[in-house]
Amino acid sequence: MRHLTSRPGAALAALACLLAAPLASCRAPAAAGGAPAVPVRQSVTFPAGWRFAAGAPPEAFAEHAMVVSNSGLASAAGSEIMRRGGNAVDAAVATGFALAVTYPVAGNIGGGGYMVIRMADGRTAALDYREVAPLAATRDMYLDASGRLTDRSVVGHLAVGVPGAVAGMAEALRRYGTMSLADVLAPAIRLAAEGFVVDSNFTRGLAGAQSFMTRFEGASLFYPGGAPLAPGSRLVQPDLARTLRLIAERGTDAFYRGEIADSLVAEMQRGGGIITKADLARYTPVWREPIRSTYRGYTLLSMPPSSSGGVTMAEALNVLETYERPAPFGSAAYAHRLGAAYQRAFVDRNELLGDPAFVDVPLGRLTSKAYARELRRTIDDRRATPTPEVAGRMAEGTHTTHYSVVDARGNAVATTTTLNNSYGSGVYVRGAGFILNDEMDDFAAQPGKPNMFGLVQGERNAIAPGKRMLSAMSPTVVLDPAGGLLLVVGAAGGPTIITGTSQVILNVIDHRMSLADAMRAPRLHHQALPDTLRYETGGLAPAVMDSLRAMGHALGERGSLVNVNAIMRVPGGYHGVHEPRAAGGAVGY
Ligand code: DON
Repeated sequence: MRHLTSRPGAALAALACLLAAPLASCRAPAAAGGAPAVPVRQSVTFPAGWRFAAGAPPEAFAEHAMVVSNSGLASAAGSEIMRRGGNAVDAAVATGFALAVTYPVAGNIGGGGYMVIRMADGRTAALDYREVAPLAATRDMYLDASGRLTDRSVVGHLAVGVPGAVAGMAEALRRYGTMSLADVLAPAIRLAAEGFVVDSNFTRGLAGAQSFMTRFEGASLFYPGGAPLAPGSRLVQPDLARTLRLIAERGTDAFYRGEIADSLVAEMQRGGGIITKADLARYTPVWREPIRSTYRGYTLLSMPPSSSGGVTMAEALNVLETYERPAPFGSAAYAHRLGAAYQRAFVDRNELLGDPAFVDVPLGRLTSKAYARELRRTIDDRRATPTPEVAGRMAEGTHTTHYSVVDARGNAVATTTTLNNSYGSGVYVRGAGFILNDEMDDFAAQPGKPNMFGLVQGERNAIAPGKRMLSAMSPTVVLDPAGGLLLVVGAAGGPTIITGTSQVILNVIDHRMSLADAMRAPRLHHQALPDTLRYETGGLAPAVMDSLRAMGHALGERGSLVNVNAIMRVPGGYHGVHEPRAAGGAVGY
């Protein structure tokens, strides 16, 4: 979906300048806050077998404001709010609620998330509205009588963490927004009550979750007659519309203490879940200081624990910065260094990070340049270093969603929200019309044993009542060397969120790609365990793969890695690009 600027002449001139004169500098009109202080973009070559061509135009250019998400309808909802005078936070909250309607595979009011805000006046904030473990949760609640891990942390009522999404979005709005909850909920209520037309991507997502979704209350809505809603059918969600109206009228109390809380707890009781009204009443989102790190003169503002995203990205990028010059994109040296940096950052992540309300987290050390220099000394430029042997497994088809927003004043919001895997626990709250998360699986349900993402995590992320489970979500705002807004970026994809988000940033800073190329470029992933350098099919040239194998890397092929949605400031406005590997839309004006 593309909405061009209201002054197409200026916009097209700026675009033409960018495309036609790669060595010239293209000056921006004042509306976008001046030209970003970054080098001009360069052309890039992708491997011959790669699925995307380099040099594609951006999906959307907008002079003033932009929303990019995994649903064009939800992006349009955010954009509508800004056209009506709302700021980027108003728009982010409107987009978040709309995603709960149009992208229920991951968008939600039954899950949680993180938001990084950078206001044009320089204020920055990070909001943690991650789910917490219910008060009745216990360390070994997912082990059977013989101590083996069950799948109860993934499917069904016991997998559900206390949802933070409604409290989080309302809190962001209260502190940084300008509109009422009722105003920003209006587009979502309309989409739920009037319905929208389902596309083939929606149907595919439902088909993938059919085996467990049909065990719960949502079966008749999403699988009428036993089959997933067909492309072209209209999905109307009257129960969800009613729930959203209740929130609009009575605020967060409706969800955490009132009628919706009653429905949620009744649902828990029907299915053997443990969330109580006391759990809901005590849920509180937490404001935190963003992780502020630098990379070659640029500044990254990202999410601190309880997410591992900001720390792990900072640690990996600090290691890469110790190399005076970045290795050429796509070379064996590039893949080797990326793999080595991510591998080391994930070793620390998996072992040392957890909810800061429960464990001490050595943030200062992990994000310091001195520590990065120490880690660099452990990297052999000719050989892969093995991560100690532990079995791992990696699940495909999981779901979270990231959206990026910029308004006409230059306020920027990066938000990532999730139910954990596709359609979360599958549990649909009878009468209230929404799906609940399975975020409990992000804990180390059995420290030392892999979770559904193959992450092998330690004691610090063990289950405890009221504790937040460690996340990889990495909503990030990048500033150029002059302190101006450059990128709003983040991703879905479990641990690959960290590596995918940071590679889009590296592609822009180190390889000077346009945003369209930075998003289309092939990606790599390493998470320490399993000890495998993952690459996308066709994303590494055969000779590079031979070199990497000779260096001792185990290579793991994936159809695709990571679902990123990003906005980049360019002369004259913004480029918006939704994940080319998935559904979505960039909508601006
Ligand atoms: O918080 C986390 O790290 C995970 N629950 C994210 C899950 C995810 O990204 C799945 N999506 N594609």
